[in-house]
Amino acid sequence: MFSRAFVSITTLAIAYAKATTRTMQVHDVRSTAPTTFTSLGAAPADMVLTVKVQVAQNDIAGLEKALMDVSTPGNALYGQHLSKEELESYTAPKAESLDAVTAWLKENDIEASSASPAGDWLSFDVPVSKANEIFDADYTVFKHTGGRELIRTLSYSVPEDLAAHIDVIHPSNTFAIASPAAAFKAIQAQPSASNGNLTSRGVPYSCASTVTPACLQAMYGIPTTAIGEKTNVLAVSGFIDMWANEADLKSFLSTFRKDLSSSTTFALQTLDGGSNPQTPRSSAGTEANLDIQYTVGLASPVPVTFVSVGEDNSDGTFGSLDMINYFLNMSTTPTVLSISYGVDETDLSPSMAKSICNAYMALGARGTSILFASGDGGVAGGQFGEQSQNCTVFVPSFPPSCPYVTSVGATTGIVETAADFSSGGFSNVFGRPSYQSSAVSSYLSALGSTNTGRFNTTGRGFPDVSTQGVNFEIVLDARRVLVNGTSCSTPTFASVVALLNDELIAAGKSPLGFLNPFLYSTAGAAALTDVTSGSNPGCGTDGFPATVGWDPVTGLGTPNYAALRTAVGL
Ligand SMILES: *[C@@H]1O[C@H](CO)[C@@H](O)[C@H](O)[C@H]1NC(C)=O
Ligand SMILES: *[C@@H]1O[C@H](CO)[C@@H](O)[C@H](O)[C@H]1NC(C)=O
Ligand SMILES: *[C@@H]1O[C@H](CO)[C@@H](O)[C@H](O)[C@H]1NC(C)=O
Repeated sequence: MFSRAFVSITTLAIAYAKATTRTMQVHDVRSTAPTTFTSLGAAPADMVLTVKVQVAQNDIAGLEKALMDVSTPGNALYGQHLSKEELESYTAPKAESLDAVTAWLKENDIEASSASPAGDWLSFDVPVSKANEIFDADYTVFKHTGGRELIRTLSYSVPEDLAAHIDVIHPSNTFAIASPAAAFKAIQAQPSASNGNLTSRGVPYSCASTVTPACLQAMYGIPTTAIGEKTNVLAVSGFIDMWANEADLKSFLSTFRKDLSSSTTFALQTLDGGSNPQTPRSSAGTEANLDIQYTVGLASPVPVTFVSVGEDNSDGTFGSLDMINYFLNMSTTPTVLSISYGVDETDLSPSMAKSICNAYMALGARGTSILFASGDGGVAGGQFGEQSQNCTVFVPSFPPSCPYVTSVGATTGIVETAADFSSGGFSNVFGRPSYQSSAVSSYLSALGSTNTGRFNTTGRGFPDVSTQGVNFEIVLDARRVLVNGTSCSTPTFASVVALLNDELIAAGKSPLGFLNPFLYSTAGAAALTDVTSGSNPGCGTDGFPATVGWDPVTGLGTPNYAALRTAVGL
């Protein structure tokens, strides 16, 4: 008896020892923080971190196939977007993965809660000392040049036998701080030239110096009336305390859309402590006002919702993931999502970039068209000053480099040419998707040896499309000002898609969902006006030239509403 008891105690001790000495393996590492961050030393041991662990999803390859099936014109499943439950059959973790990760956390006295609709994200609070111990990490305070402090670790580990069950842990080595893709040097608008003088295409000559909704309607044939189908929601996201002002919208509409009802406005949704205060009026954000004025101002009566994502969870990337999970929890997702914020691809760990990109894949499969501004730094990305001239390699923007979003670049002029700030290029994380393989290989063969060694010839090329993006007139704090940026282009293209969806839904058809397989198809590309001049300089080079066909400055070109209408089967 005594001996047996002894044996069992010994066994327990061994089991315990095994549990705490699991063989650890580095799961993700980066050698340094981005140059815009400096280390302020170890994070305080007792500081509480909210840690999120993404458990491997059940079938991402299956989801990618499902996305391509429902998004590729001509496929038998085209337009049959996935329900919440159908999507979760791909995105929920396998029981064995969830059990294995949960058991490991329990060994460390951690009870995690589910933090996403599919149950793939787990969340728990632990002091820095414990996070350092369980992840073999070195959580440090990093300060951004903009003043923001992030707690990050350059490297972390997980037990060897769990490596395949864990996609990514956050916070770790992603250093993304979102910035809006609009030039903030807003300047006083010139008094608009008379709209009486029109070009042969019916475009007011004044559009060469100041872009208004009337210019975009004339240039792209955007209709001035629509049905306003209630299920067709155009969502506009707002981050970093950029707020959309209702009084400024009213004044914008009364100047530029006299034909709309004076009560035309937008709905509000908030998450992560987001809000949209209206007073003082000067608290309005340039980016949010631009985005709301050029969606409500072009797509009305399509319902527009401003989604204000607060900073509760934010530390950069997570707000955007929270927002996608918030949409994925809805039984009906927005039909179009317009986002004019981004970061450099190099700011994220590749595993976090993939995780976020997969979340866009999921939202696309639900039937949402996701549009991202391509960025305003030409080929140099978000770098400023000397760095943007001295860089030896081009810096792609993220999320535009994700193959499951539609990235929008900028043009200028009545005869359109590329805007020189229009970011574009090739991902270092995501390979070239099949829908653009022919368009991109043609461009690369014509490009020859230009910029060789400065970009990745196998990566996903962006942007996909473009619209005007220079000298947009908006109302900000009761004043008329001009703004530049791919931030102008994104709500414009998003409005075109929303108006097409309005007609499709009224005709009993599905909304467009993930756009790229359609846009790169022969019919889709033919419904866009190719922009063949200009370039996007940066890193001491001329950047990429815009050419006939797709190019990494203006994509496939700018919209032609009448042609798009026909191409989508209306
Ligand atoms: C999803 O929505 C339900 C209510 O509709 C809510 O109870 C739940 O917390 C939400 N889940 C997530 C992960 O947001
Ligand atoms: C926008 O770009 C135009 C053309 O390059 C330039 O004249 C103008 O100053 C820019 N405006 C802002 C706000 O940067
Ligand atoms: C180039 O892009 C591919 C994805 O297409 C990636 O696997 C590879 O690591 C990238 N190369 C570099 C040097 O970043």
